[in-house]
Amino acid sequence: MSGTLVRCDDRVALEAALDAARASAEAIAFVPTMGALHVGHLTLVRRAATLAPTVVVSIFVNPTQFDVAADLAAYPRTLDDDLAQLAALAATLDASLIVYTPSVDDVYPDGAARTLRVPDVTDHLCGASRPGHFDGVATVVDALLRAVRPTVVVMGRKDHQQLVVVRRLVAMQGHAVEVDAAPTVRDHDGVATSSRNRLLDDAARAVARRIPAALAAGVAVAREARARGAALDPVGVRDAATAVLAGDGLRIDYLETVDPDRIVPIERPIGGLGEGPGGEAGEGPDARRVQMLLAVAAHVGAGEATVRLIDNVLLGDAADEQRLLDALAGTADPRAGGDEG
Ligand code: PAF
Repeated sequence: MSGTLVRCDDRVALEAALDAARASAEAIAFVPTMGALHVGHLTLVRRAATLAPTVVVSIFVNPTQFDVAADLAAYPRTLDDDLAQLAALAATLDASLIVYTPSVDDVYPDGAARTLRVPDVTDHLCGASRPGHFDGVATVVDALLRAVRPTVVVMGRKDHQQLVVVRRLVAMQGHAVEVDAAPTVRDHDGVATSSRNRLLDDAARAVARRIPAALAAGVAVAREARARGAALDPVGVRDAATAVLAGDGLRIDYLETVDPDRIVPIERPIGGLGEGPGGEAGEGPDARRVQMLLAVAAHVGAGEATVRLIDNVLLGDAADEQRLLDALAGTADPRAGGDEG
């Protein structure tokens, strides 16, 4: 029934709650989360409700994806507030909402003995700086997809590498599910919404704003190159972004330019006249269609209160570039879902 919310603490209850949807072969949309819900998550749920009459939201802080025990311990847990937010949202939706809040034993009945590894796309960015992280993500998403068996899973583009990992996982494991990518939702100051940025104090929050500003500096370089019909030089992009990002109160974990599908570094200019996507000579692609992911991870704040934030922009994707600039200018609607353009 639309507008309702049902909470299920284990797979048995989840299966019972999904009974009617399965019997009538209705679409089921799934939004996996680790809780500490914010406007970004709620936007994903709203988007999911436009894709299927039944939406499952999982809230599970997955221990296997934390490479540092202190990070797992510090991860915000706000279940009561999460449920209250979802109940309020459910009342406004044209879909029924099921909240799956499993225990570790329910997700990993065999103690996570079987760890999945998605090859190739996890050697760089967060895969390099958080060893084992994506094995944990792949393992839990696989387990959750087996439990929920959705027709579509909705993932946020802020975690671009995670999105690529999940797409590969779905192909690798043969899950019959579409992966829907939702644009990054940004706060009034342009900072991407995340469960971690609620841990920032005011001073750290002001520093965090340098992250989207650095991405915008990369956009400026890309736009200028496009306007000239010139190749996009990753060194120029990174230099412009670093100049904005570097400074007190922030330690850069990585600032990289990568191929958005393969997640491998782009080191040579791409696009422009007479160059292929790898910079090789030959028939050049339309410079406006060439895409390069500018991705950042940075530790913001000091001492115990340090928070690691990630963000990215897809250079060459006009809609993604514009959403970032609008958010920084304060002209974006943070609740607007939009399409992955
Ligand atoms: O993005 C997250 O919140 C998590 O990595 C996910 C996909 C829910 C898996 O635990």
